[in-house]
Amino acid sequence: MSSPSVIPVPPAVAAHARIDEARYKAMYERSIRDPEGFWAEQGRRLNWIRPYTQVKDVDYTGDVRIRWFHDGTLNACWNCVDRHLPARAGQTAILWEGDDPAEDRHVTYGEMHEAICRLANVLKARGVKKGDRVTIYMPMIPEAAYAMLACARIGAVHSVVFGGFSPESLIGRIQDCDSAVVITADEGLRGGRKVPLKANVDAALEHCPAVHSVIVVRRTGGKVGWAEGRDVWYHEATAAASRDCPVEEMSAEDPLFILYTSGSTGKPKGVLHTTGGYLVFASMTHEAVFDYRDGEIYWCTADVGWVTGHSYIVYGPLANGATTLMFEGVPNYPDASRFWQVVDKHKVNIFYTAPTAIRALMREGEAPVKKASRQSLRLLGSVGEPINPEAWLWYWNVVGEGRCPIVDTWWQTETGGILITPLPGATALKPGSATLPFFGVRPVIVDNEGNHLEGATEGNLCLADSWPGQMRTVYGDHKRFVETYFSTFKGMYFTGDGARRDEDGYYWITGRVDDVINVAGHRLGTAEIESALVAHPKVAEAAVVGYPHDIKGQGIYAYVTLVAGEATTEELRRELVQWVRKEIGPIATPDLIQWAPGLPKTRSGKIMRRILRKIAANEHGQLGDTSTLADPGVVDDLVGNRMNRA
Ligand code: PRX
Repeated sequence: MSSPSVIPVPPAVAAHARIDEARYKAMYERSIRDPEGFWAEQGRRLNWIRPYTQVKDVDYTGDVRIRWFHDGTLNACWNCVDRHLPARAGQTAILWEGDDPAEDRHVTYGEMHEAICRLANVLKARGVKKGDRVTIYMPMIPEAAYAMLACARIGAVHSVVFGGFSPESLIGRIQDCDSAVVITADEGLRGGRKVPLKANVDAALEHCPAVHSVIVVRRTGGKVGWAEGRDVWYHEATAAASRDCPVEEMSAEDPLFILYTSGSTGKPKGVLHTTGGYLVFASMTHEAVFDYRDGEIYWCTADVGWVTGHSYIVYGPLANGATTLMFEGVPNYPDASRFWQVVDKHKVNIFYTAPTAIRALMREGEAPVKKASRQSLRLLGSVGEPINPEAWLWYWNVVGEGRCPIVDTWWQTETGGILITPLPGATALKPGSATLPFFGVRPVIVDNEGNHLEGATEGNLCLADSWPGQMRTVYGDHKRFVETYFSTFKGMYFTGDGARRDEDGYYWITGRVDDVINVAGHRLGTAEIESALVAHPKVAEAAVVGYPHDIKGQGIYAYVTLVAGEATTEELRRELVQWVRKEIGPIATPDLIQWAPGLPKTRSGKIMRRILRKIAANEHGQLGDTSTLADPGVVDDLVGNRMNRA
């Protein structure tokens, strides 16, 4: 890649910076030299019931122990809501913009408090106690945030499942964490289309007999099935409940939520985050990375079903007393100007979205952007996948008109919050680089043997030490936690990402180095899609890889071997696509399916994915050494019939 230019902090931004370059350097240096002292101070941004005297207790070896502020007690909902009431009861907490541009709602901190207390009492009346798990399967409506915070208020552990997941996926996630209660809505609304959430829950619950309560928000008024005794309307139950609900005193290390995410092997794992460290980190990163200032309108376009929605729509902004915009719809409905129309309508100051959305909008040209003034915008953010310099520059020039810094924030479900990112007042930008580590974050690049690589280099991205927002375990499977993150490279957290560090110490995330793919910012395990495919009676074997896709970043390429005697028809191809959508959800829709009479395997039977990735990328000229294959002939067939010729 040719060396892209460096974009200095715009003078108008530098003039008002709370953290300028010198301060970033000093704070960063201190955070690494004295993490205990640094985080002891930062922890005070929250209100603690019993203040902590212990700050960091971490051991990355053996069984792996990660604890922060562990003798302190607090309540996350109190910190996000109640403590703001004296000053902000009348301030908008959630600014909701509906799928239909004619619909919006301003929910104040005071109104949100009442709604959460009522719902928390409904949960309690249904038997939910501290430590119980509650599954939330909701559209992007304020009630989704109330549901999360009502759980936090009474010490229940929420597990939000993205509304785009299928009933099959929902079953696995409800069963894995033993939820007895589900909070959902009749239907979701996205881009003018209805999403049958309650019907999906009903289908899932046929396999989840332990669920005794389903609380249903009426969103569209669409017709839904009803199980008497089990199902209850949100509006009826909350209207009848008391508006007073004391908060539960939680230890800093009590679980706050579980969020399922895909890995290279097996089923999605329940990433467990705890209360104190997570909230300190979400709050601090939200304030510093987005340079959030009192009174501003902040908009993160993610869905609450993903970690970005947890940390940067709900917990971080609300802990900071911000106004957080929650958008129900999609970027291109009613048309490709929607994001910018919303920016103008609500005078949005800070806008945080994903590269896949930027690329899709870039394809529509500048006119839809220029239809809106965007004068309120002062900061732009990107998250979820590497942003290519071309999209970065379009975001910078066209959307931000060269005046809004772009924070390209690298992090993961597991990290709880942003780890590598520019700070708007401190960091000169390079298009495509996530730039420099956040406070307390120690990235290291290692080779495949685990040797630390110094200076300008490229390799596997690891983190040498803990930060408060780090996940604590895989729910119900600590062994898997240790194996997944701490066994590849001893004594370090392995991210699963590759990265390059340039001569200025800037990080460039190169993408996953494991069998995880990132499709339109959605994280998927190739193994999950493969097991969905082989569950089809006509499929004998399947191998799934990612391939470069202009809009989505990566597309899903499946090689499928049918059982003997089955014909390779277009109809079957379509059927398999539908099958995967049903098994996992529309986000896992295969883009290309190639019929494979055989898969390239080593003599010991291991599929050589390296070769499959090359063919999928239409780079079959560079297959490398194929001499170890059991049957090198299969490669010729796969190359000859490859589906991607771009
Ligand atoms: O590969 C990295 C990519 O997304 C992965 C994490 O996905 P998930 O847990 O779903 O969380 C997404 C939202 C934080 C990472 O391992 N990724 C995320 N942000 C970036 C990124 N890749 C490059 N640049 C980013 N800014």
